[in-house]
Amino acid sequence: MRTQVAIIGGGPSGLLLSQLLHVHGISSVVLERKTRDYVLGRIRAGVLEKGLVDLMDQAGIGARMHQEGLLHQGTSIAYGNESFRVDLQHHAGRPLMVYGQTELTRDLYDARAKEELPTEFEVENVVLHDLETEAPSVSYEVHGESRTLNCDFIAGCDGFHGVSRRAIPDAVKTEYERTYPFGWLGVLSETPPVNHELIYANSDRGFALCSMRSETRSRYYIQCALSDSPSDWSDQAFWDELRRRIPEPQADQLITGPAIEKSIAPLRSFVCEPMQWGRLFLCGDAAHIVPPTGAKGLNTAASDVHYLFTGLRQYYEDGDANGINQYSQRALSRVWKVSRFSWWFSTLMHQFPDQQAFDRKIQLAELEFLRSSEAAQAAMAQNYVGLPY
Ligand code: APR
Ligand code: PHB
Repeated sequence: MRTQVAIIGGGPSGLLLSQLLHVHGISSVVLERKTRDYVLGRIRAGVLEKGLVDLMDQAGIGARMHQEGLLHQGTSIAYGNESFRVDLQHHAGRPLMVYGQTELTRDLYDARAKEELPTEFEVENVVLHDLETEAPSVSYEVHGESRTLNCDFIAGCDGFHGVSRRAIPDAVKTEYERTYPFGWLGVLSETPPVNHELIYANSDRGFALCSMRSETRSRYYIQCALSDSPSDWSDQAFWDELRRRIPEPQADQLITGPAIEKSIAPLRSFVCEPMQWGRLFLCGDAAHIVPPTGAKGLNTAASDVHYLFTGLRQYYEDGDANGINQYSQRALSRVWKVSRFSWWFSTLMHQFPDQQAFDRKIQLAELEFLRSSEAAQAAMAQNYVGLPY
């Protein structure tokens, strides 16, 4: 089999890249290790920057997102008994779109099916070959049958645990990592959100976040110990703890219900440099991870897709290789800024187990500064709505 771009991984990065290439007549094949239903069963964040919204439109599949997504003009930050709103529209000139990653991924799969774009599911033993030549290839197995995909380029969109990043030799690769000594326990429930905008809360008992998927479906998180497991937390225990961590007016109004999903995610910052090697380009979680505070994971994957798609288009339409040659440099410049923001926001909002009284005072002073300074709110808002591509 032959295609122009072999895409490893059928998560949002790989699917969006494939769809954008298709609109411009560039062929690709997506190789996914799991089934479509498995991929669509993953619950991830649901806040889209304008850059990603525009990419969905460019790919011709933004209709449902515009119809069902919720535009948020602001977000709230709470600490102790204080709570304030950062006006995103005022400080950064644009809103955010609340639309679940699961729904976005579904739209991408539906569009693929409609256009009959090639996807191989349940691929195993994926191996990348001849990356330093102009004729790379990918070998893999499907249900025991060996296959080879010949191509011009390979996009490694296979997430943090994928094979693509490992194909870059250790001698040329540097990996930067920071782990955080806590996790997020998340609950999805068929209940109306407690507030029409998101609330990020730094309480003495730990971080909490009130988010949503729609006007009838809520997503809440609380900071938990890494040693906790979801079964340690009954629904009742989760709701009780959430109530203790959010401002009183919201705690009083919180509508609870059975958890339809409950899971714990660790927090990590990770960046791999470079993001390209020969004809292999890494996109999204394959190259970098941010802690979820600020919901930048999917959005940063989208900016990678933008840089790679633009470079590939220049290559195929104008014979200009500049964009692909500079892919890593361009993508990393933005990735590091987003990593800084996600690290900053995580550090500001959580209780660290080894935190001393001094550290807590500094955190509260920074929150106080953010509450009272227009300049600090503007800096936060610009990062939160998304840095330009
Ligand atoms: N071969 C083929 N597919 C693979 C392989 C492999 N060896 N390893 C992993 N995959 C698939 C996974 O099953 C998954 O569906 O690659 C896909 C990667 O998808 P994601 O992990 O979702 O990563 P990405 O598409 O970069 O999405 C960006 O942003 O909000 C964050 O982490 C969140 O998933 C989100 C990410
Ligand atoms: C979510 O809705 O899952 C979400 C929202 C905002 C974040 C993180 C997660 O910062």
